[in-house]
Amino acid sequence: MSGTTNKKRRLITSALPYANGHIHVGHIAGAYLPADIYVRYLRSVGENVVWVCGSDEHGAAITLRAKKDNTTPQEIVDKYHVEMQDAFNGLDISFDHYSRTSSERHHKVAKDFFLKLLANDSFEIKTEEQYYDIEEDQFLADRYITGTCPKCGADNAYGDQCEKCGSTLSPTELINPKSTLSGSEPVLKSTTLWYLPMGRHEDWLRDYIEKGELDGEHHHNSKAWKSHVIGQCKSWIDGGLQSRAMTRDLKWGVPVPVEGAEGKVLYVWLDAPIGYITSTMEWAEKNGEDWKDWWQSPDTELLHFIGKDNIVFHCIIFPILLKEHGDYILPHQVPANEFMNLEGDKISTSRNWAVWVKEYCESSPEGSDVMRYVLTSIMPEQRDSEFTWTDFRDRVNNELADVLGNFVNRVIVLTRKYYDSVVPDSPNELTEIDTKVLESLAAAPDKIADLISRHRYREAQLEAMNVARLGNKYLTEEEPWKLMKTNPARVATIMHITAQVVGNLSVVLEPFLPRTAAKISSAMGVENAKWSDASTGIVAGGTKLGDLPILFAKIDDEFVEVQVAKLGNKSSNTNPNIMPQKDPTTFDNFTQMDLRVATVTECVQVKKADKLLQLTVDTGLDIRTVVSGIAEHFKPEEVIGRRVVLLANLEPRKIRGVESQGMVLMASTADGGLRFITPEEGVSPGDVIS
Ligand code: MF3
Ligand code: ZN
Repeated sequence: MSGTTNKKRRLITSALPYANGHIHVGHIAGAYLPADIYVRYLRSVGENVVWVCGSDEHGAAITLRAKKDNTTPQEIVDKYHVEMQDAFNGLDISFDHYSRTSSERHHKVAKDFFLKLLANDSFEIKTEEQYYDIEEDQFLADRYITGTCPKCGADNAYGDQCEKCGSTLSPTELINPKSTLSGSEPVLKSTTLWYLPMGRHEDWLRDYIEKGELDGEHHHNSKAWKSHVIGQCKSWIDGGLQSRAMTRDLKWGVPVPVEGAEGKVLYVWLDAPIGYITSTMEWAEKNGEDWKDWWQSPDTELLHFIGKDNIVFHCIIFPILLKEHGDYILPHQVPANEFMNLEGDKISTSRNWAVWVKEYCESSPEGSDVMRYVLTSIMPEQRDSEFTWTDFRDRVNNELADVLGNFVNRVIVLTRKYYDSVVPDSPNELTEIDTKVLESLAAAPDKIADLISRHRYREAQLEAMNVARLGNKYLTEEEPWKLMKTNPARVATIMHITAQVVGNLSVVLEPFLPRTAAKISSAMGVENAKWSDASTGIVAGGTKLGDLPILFAKIDDEFVEVQVAKLGNKSSNTNPNIMPQKDPTTFDNFTQMDLRVATVTECVQVKKADKLLQLTVDTGLDIRTVVSGIAEHFKPEEVIGRRVVLLANLEPRKIRGVESQGMVLMASTADGGLRFITPEEGVSPGDVIS
């Protein structure tokens, strides 16, 4: 790292995703892919950049999820901490470090931060009435409480926000409040909270947020914040900044490090952004760096990549916290994206209206670059956008396969055919067209770099693809295959130039399509090329080209249908006789059941009962009697000798005068029939099922 220490540093963060669910394409297009493109580009130009992220493991969403799944918050976050990283890896999202906020280290960092604010007199401590759920013995804030929105009248507004109209709310504003834990009506109860008086900060915040706006339309100002980001912040500030509680009366979270504050934790939006700091500390430790250089030096630019629902937290609340602390730099740029919709509807986890990244990557292991390409093409940079699978197909087929793949392939194949894969030497006579192509080629890296620097990733990728279009058009118009016999010198010129185009592609496409770029650079012998190597002479004459597999397979309509069919909560089986799933049960309930294999040794009809058979079964423990209502489906002789599954500890019960000591489990088939569940060979009476 020596030698880079005097250079300007860039610290990049992406929103710490809540560890309570899977990552979908909307997340990726919002906060991760744009950052990945930006960081890959900065690495390629040799900038001193670090990109941190991690799992956001506190907050109501996680506790509620744990409750729903009958498990603990820790189990939930442990599971999704791993699964989310699988998803990121699947799309080659290249964080420098990925941390988590439930770690001991983070708890310490967050507590210290809080204590510094306390020492600086940053809080107002207030004791007041808060909603409380008696049944659950818990105070209700944020997502734990719903009700009617006082602003727009929507039904399911949360205690912190109405998702319908976007207003920020406090629980006491809700009309007809209801606990999301028990559904009961909450009561008011007194508690102490540490408030951040944000009103104190309006003046400097206004300047801070507008600082880039004056040159907002100037093309070369990478500081200019996006207009929708400025707009959202301004309307918040214009509405007057209310004090916001920085503590919650909850069990899950970072405990408030103050005596007498038992049962209180830090507000998740205080602790989570501090997670960026913890993540940087861990990275720095691993890499022999001083984390303070990255957070407390004016030579560092801090950039937060987020989705639009996170804007106020990163542009207003976190800057206030950093300023109150006193030692930290403030965010330099917050290139927030808007939302991506899916097939005509909002992405929704509960309605399963989402393209899940992990699932996509598992079913299309080679699909990383094509997904990245499509998501970048429709990235919601300035306004909401929409993902559809037919658009996905069209972009892959018409752009990646027909333009990029086809061009690169033709260059490799023709060079092999004419020159045994050795790139011809650089020409000394150029036509006007050659010169124009080389000029466009030479101009492309700067153009792309400028767009990336201004967070215009859609246009940047388009410009990178235009390099392939340039080459494709050149090849198609120059038709070297018609000239080989009559003018081989001309063909050498054309093929030398096309090799330069392909070589450049491997560099300028790398931030967008890292796998494809790696394949191309290895075929072109320019594996270690950096951004500055992109030039009209990147591939020297005499270079022996390697082979290249087909870069992009075309997508057919069946693929589209299969993907669309995965959306929504419909059952995989369209048979209306399939029983819907029962209400959730607990693992404890399950383990209380003694299920074991038994053999039927005798079987007779129960007298005067058409439906009942009396079975004698060997349970391995004992020989016992079981009465079973299967006489309409089976004759006694069909049952004798079978191995069955028995619920052995069902309370004994007299049925038609016969005591039944257990229950034989049967499968009810969709056509109304009954079948035995027959254990595999090798399973014997007494074997326990669990
Ligand atoms: N977990 C939040 C979300 O998914 C984002 C947290 S960003 C951080 O909306 F700054 F707080 F870490
Ligand atoms: Zn509302």
